[in-house]
Amino acid sequence: MEKERGFTLWFTGLSGSGKTTIAEIVEKELRERGRRVEVLDGDIVRTNLSKGLSFSREDRNVNVLRIGFVANLLTRNGVGVIVSAISPYKEVRDQVRRRIIDFVEVFVDAPVEVCAERDVKGLYKKAYAGEIKEFTGVSDPYEPPAAPDLVLKTAEEEPEESAKKVMEKLEFFGYLAPE
Ligand code: ADX
Repeated sequence: MEKERGFTLWFTGLSGSGKTTIAEIVEKELRERGRRVEVLDGDIVRTNLSKGLSFSREDRNVNVLRIGFVANLLTRNGVGVIVSAISPYKEVRDQVRRRIIDFVEVFVDAPVEVCAERDVKGLYKKAYAGEIKEFTGVSDPYEPPAAPDLVLKTAEEEPEESAKKVMEKLEFFGYLAPE
């Protein structure tokens, strides 16, 4: 069997922008197409690999570098890695991007008003009330990617539609055989 090309699919964007939702759909579809997949989700990584890290700039960057390190190990062994982490700082995202050769950067782009309106975890309410400090998009910066491979406008399209664009991009780059 031909060796599968690993890749890291990196979703960056605000909390509540839809990263995890799209990642879950893409994960399922990749598995259905016989790919080995691993998901590295910020919320989950922060309960183990990055346990105890804060949301300061330094700690967020440590978190992103750790995720990048693991993603690289898996990628070079043929795994399809899906990362969903806010990863708000451009410099360290670009650092990871340079290190992982097979890297697809996806900007999950939704206005903060829309994310706050969705408020899936109830965190925006707390952030606006000042109960959570340094909350991305509210009281902490988010630096959008300058040249992402794909931009998903999740306020304007359904998650299934976004996931389809991701799958097409993976096919376009040759990471996935067309159906
Ligand atoms: S990152 O900035 O280090 O990349 P990561 O994606 O791991 O963030 O974690 C973000 C998640 O942590 C959010 O989806 C949210 O559930 C939670 N969270 C808790 N506090 C904050 C905060 N101050 N800013 C952003 N997200 C927070």
